Amino acid sequence: MLLSPYAEEIARVVCEEKVAVVTTGAGNPGKYVEMWKGNNIKVIPVVPSVALAKRMERSGVDAVIAEGHESGGHIGELTTMALVPQVVDAVSIPVVAAGGIADGRGLLAALSLGAVGVQMGTRFLVAKECNVHQNYKQRVLSAKDIDTVITGLSTGHPVRSLRNRFTRELLNIEKQGLDAEIFEQKAAGSLKRAAIDGDTDFGSVMAGQVSGLVKKEQTCSEIIEEIINEASILYKALGGMVK
Ligand SMILES: Cc1cc2nc3c(=O)[nH]c(=O)nc-3n(C[C@H](O)[C@H](O)[C@H](O)COP(=O)(O)O)c2cc1C
Repeated sequence: MLLSPYAEEIARVVCEEKVAVVTTGAGNPGKYVEMWKGNNIKVIPVVPSVALAKRMERSGVDAVIAEGHESGGHIGELTTMALVPQVVDAVSIPVVAAGGIADGRGLLAALSLGAVGVQMGTRFLVAKECNVHQNYKQRVLSAKDIDTVITGLSTGHPVRSLRNRFTRELLNIEKQGLDAEIFEQKAAGSLKRAAIDGDTDFGSVMAGQVSGLVKKEQTCSEIIEEIINEASILYKALGGMVK
């Protein structure tokens, strides 16, 4: 599994430092939930399916993030549009939607599906406060709708990123019949290569399908205000349409 070798220590430091809210990535945070809940920490795991959402609810988490296949980074199989309402129907805790949301239209759609809020990754990659390399930001800003690709399907750890020489090499290794060791060697450190070193040819430029919607670098507060403003204008306009 892709669990950090430091997971145990990180989980403990989270308690020692009295972190108020923890979100966990794809996968089952399992044994850590009990420890965090015992320390009055709010826990909000990412889930790619109804089954994991229900399991997480039973384990006592406070909310879940239902993340769809459109997302950048590690992804599940279901799209946000299909996943979110099914998770909303299956659990009683709040559901946050993630994947493929980059503007007010996406926010309003997610709320319509029953989510209480959204988590966005790709749009914030180009936030002024985001310290990924400028080359990485430029790749996202110039991306088109069809520019993302999924690698790692054959390893069971699919990742969505922008197509480049690195993804072509990974896909070739996969096509030739999986050699997991060579694949892992190639993938190791690839996000750092792109995000820190700025090598967008041979690094992993993780980004979601909404990259094509992301057109300008703004501060986080500008992004959030713009999205909420767009959603509320749209909400009023739709109010007139739904009669
Ligand atoms: C560059 C990048 C790195 C990410 N890394 C992680 C991660 O380490 N753990 C995780 O749970 N999600 C990760 N995500 C997923 C985001 O937290 C978020 O759920 C996702 O980006 C939402 O979809 P969007 O990209 O369409 O906005 C990453 C996303 C991006 C774009």
